[in-house]
Parts: sequence; structure tokens; C-alpha cells
Amino acid sequence: MPETKTENAINIRYSELAETSCCLSCGGAVNHANAGPGETCVDLGSGRGTDAIRMAEAVGADGMVYGLDLSDGMIRTAEKTAARLGVENVKFLQTDLEQIPLEDKSVDLVISNCVINHAEDKQKVWNEVSRILKKGGRFVVSDIYSSKPVPEEYKNDPEAVAECWAGSVTREEYLLQLETAGFKDIEILEESNPYPKGKIEVSSWTILGRKSGCGCCK
Ligand SMILES: C[S@@+](CC[C@H](N)C(=O)[O-])C[C@H]1O[C@@H](n2cnc3c(N)ncnc32)[C@H](O)[C@@H]1O
Repeated sequence: MPETKTENAINIRYSELAETSCCLSCGGAVNHANAGPGETCVDLGSGRGTDAIRMAEAVGADGMVYGLDLSDGMIRTAEKTAARLGVENVKFLQTDLEQIPLEDKSVDLVISNCVINHAEDKQKVWNEVSRILKKGGRFVVSDIYSSKPVPEEYKNDPEAVAECWAGSVTREEYLLQLETAGFKDIEILEESNPYPKGKIEVSSWTILGRKSGCGCCK
């Protein structure tokens, strides 16, 4: 499934980390998401599946959660955990986020935690989020942004991107990508001070946005 050098580096790194319990998050997206009964939710880069399973419990039998991840090790771990806990309304799909295998306007809530910075074409990912959300649907995303544009030598280094820093874009570029995908009036729920990560300086934030339009019509 992973096709490019960066995707391979991500698969190797995160398939190994799937067997550990170290924290891979950079914010509290799921805590702010308030998944409710009957909702259809998606976790982009669902890792070991913890947040997706938590949302599956919140949406109940009438709801459904899809956990999407590129790394086969992560998908295996998440599936095993859901089976062990007997959670049936969650499905884990191995996929790149640039092409999400879900229908247009089929999702109420998208969450993600420390993932979108890894994507090679982040604009495509945001366009996909916009495509799958129903009108009035929302996203709550925790991610990092860089204080300055990342130098080319790091940006094109697959291992550095997989390590969760070299793929980051600046705050301005991040907001521009959101706007291009059709998301305006972004709410910032959490935002850190800058801190060193890898060879650059980044900040973490958790943001909320809505797809415009009322939820009553498709
Ligand atoms: C830092 S971990 C975060 C995992 C989880 N969200 C959490 O908070 O524990 C990043 C995850 O994103 C996945 N990932 C990275 N790039 C991806 C892409 N382009 N498409 C799908 N998944 C990706 C990795 O496999 C990994 O599981």
C-alpha cells in the first residue's frame, strides 16, 4: 500500500511504534470533538486505534467510525484492540489520506492527531476532508506547524518527515490550505508556544472548522 519513499519511511517507523505504548499525539483533538450518538466519524491517521474506539463507544450502535491509516502495523494493532474490546462499529482502513475511500458528504465529524504534517500533499488531504464532510459537519484536528518555512534539505528527507517535523508548514500556509479547501472561521482550541522538534522549531495546535451549509439538506 505505501507507494512513495516518504510513505515507506512512515510505514516502517509507525509499524514499529504500533507495538509500543509511547504517546504519538500533539494535542487533545478527541477531547474537543464531542462525538455524539448516531454520528459517522473518521479519524485520519488513527494509529493504534485508541481515539477511533473511544468515538465508536460515544456514537453507539447507530453510529459508525472509520480509522484510516497508512501503516500496516498500526492497522493490525487497532483491529486487534477493537476485537478484544468487542467494539463492532469501528472499521480500520489502510489508506493514504490523499484519497479517502469514503463517499462525498457522508461524515459528520473528522478528527486527526499529529498526522496531516506527514502528508506529501496536504492540500489534497484538506480537500478530501471537505469532500467527505456533510454540510454543517465539523473537523477537530491537532497538528504541528513550523515557525519558519522548513528548508528543502529536510522537507525532502523521508525519515525527517516520518519523524513528525520536516513535513510541517507555517501557520500562514496551514490557514491558507484550509481556506482553499473551503474552511473559513477556524476556531483555535489549543495552541502551544514554539518548541524545538528535530532540526526546526514548531508549535502544536488543535483547530476546529465546519463545512458551510446547514445540516438539514444534502
Ligand atoms: C504521530 S502518529 C499519530 C497516531 C494517532 N493519531 C495518535 O494520536 O496516537 C501518525 C500516524 O499517522 C499515520 N500516517 C502518516 N502519514 C499518513 C498518510 N499520508 N496517510 C495515512 N496515514 C498516515 C501513521 O501511520 C501514524 O499511525
